[in-house]
Amino acid sequence: MTTEQRFPDGFLWGTATAAHQVEGGNWNSDWWAWEHKPDTLCAEPSGDACDHWNRYPDDLALLSGLGFNAYRFSVEWARIEPEEGCFSTVALDHYRRVCATAREQGLHPVVTFHHFTSPRWVDADGSWENPKTAERFARYCERAAGALGDLVGTACTINEPNIVAFYGYRHGVFPPGRTDSAARHAANDTFIDGHRRAVEAIKAGAGGVPVGLTLSMTAWEAVEGGEENLVKFRRPFEDVFLEAARGDDFIGVQTYTRERIGPDGQLPPEAGVETTLMGYEFWPQALEATIRRAWEVTDGTPVIVTENGIAAEDDARRVAYVTGALQGVQRCIDDGLDVRGYFYWTALDNFEWLFGYRPTFGLVGVDRQTFERTPKPSASWLGSVARANALVV
Ligand code: BGC
Repeated sequence: MTTEQRFPDGFLWGTATAAHQVEGGNWNSDWWAWEHKPDTLCAEPSGDACDHWNRYPDDLALLSGLGFNAYRFSVEWARIEPEEGCFSTVALDHYRRVCATAREQGLHPVVTFHHFTSPRWVDADGSWENPKTAERFARYCERAAGALGDLVGTACTINEPNIVAFYGYRHGVFPPGRTDSAARHAANDTFIDGHRRAVEAIKAGAGGVPVGLTLSMTAWEAVEGGEENLVKFRRPFEDVFLEAARGDDFIGVQTYTRERIGPDGQLPPEAGVETTLMGYEFWPQALEATIRRAWEVTDGTPVIVTENGIAAEDDARRVAYVTGALQGVQRCIDDGLDVRGYFYWTALDNFEWLFGYRPTFGLVGVDRQTFERTPKPSASWLGSVARANALVV
């Protein structure tokens, strides 16, 4: 039996990318420095990434041709403000052209102002552990939003502050490599302050665009008496951010899998279950669970799925994963939850942080020598879902 499930009119269908992962040559950022340090766990440096800095016109034409109506990307603080107070007109003009090109291609531009990377000068002064970073970030946002102005469609302040605080300040595997629980909590606080200030700054700079935070969320499950632990883990990881996002124009939900918590902490996926190239359990049901939780904890703040996807060699598993995830989105909408869009992570096979280029999340493959783009079958499949604004199962 075939069923067709339609999405609300005006639903945003897009893909998401991040500057450092696709542009190439982001040498003035803390991540570039980190990738080139001998004692980190980085698999390889980002190098030229996908050369999206130069190839964005073709990339946007490709995404539009596939059927998408939106594109989420980030503007790079390290390029826009390479030294404190020194702003690059060339970088701002570049991002104006990216927004303008997206609009010409019929893609609603969703602009993220911070996606994991900070300028080296911010890193040298305590990065997000230093409360001053919140003010500095807001100043940069106001300047960038002013320059991009009415070309911005929707704005995301900070991408997954919870991941940066956890991996960069508690576990030391992301820059700045801190391994201290107090540092993690300090980073959480600065991120929350930075988000609140950025909301005002972006609205001041770019007029009435919708502004929100995007958060990494997991379908948490307690196993064998792990309930107390689950609450303890989830609080600094999700709840403090969801509470800070209450009343925003939207909350960006970003979900990949579920997380099982036992009495002694996080548990790996059960033996024998299907896992992805990231080692995550194949669990598309996670999206529905996290949308519902975001909606509940933010007291009904509208949701945009700003990231959801899978790193897989077998592209058919990508289609299966997204189908399962979108069915969950549908159930949320049917229950009256205000879900406004779905952005697949990610458009291009790109630089996956610590893991380098091995995990392939992209709808489009990229030749590492020639940068040639090759759309996978999942790209035309999801593009046709977007064009029809309906999922046919
Ligand atoms: C991040 C992306 C990342 C993706 C897949 C999210 O945590 O926003 O930058 O590539 O997940 O791991």
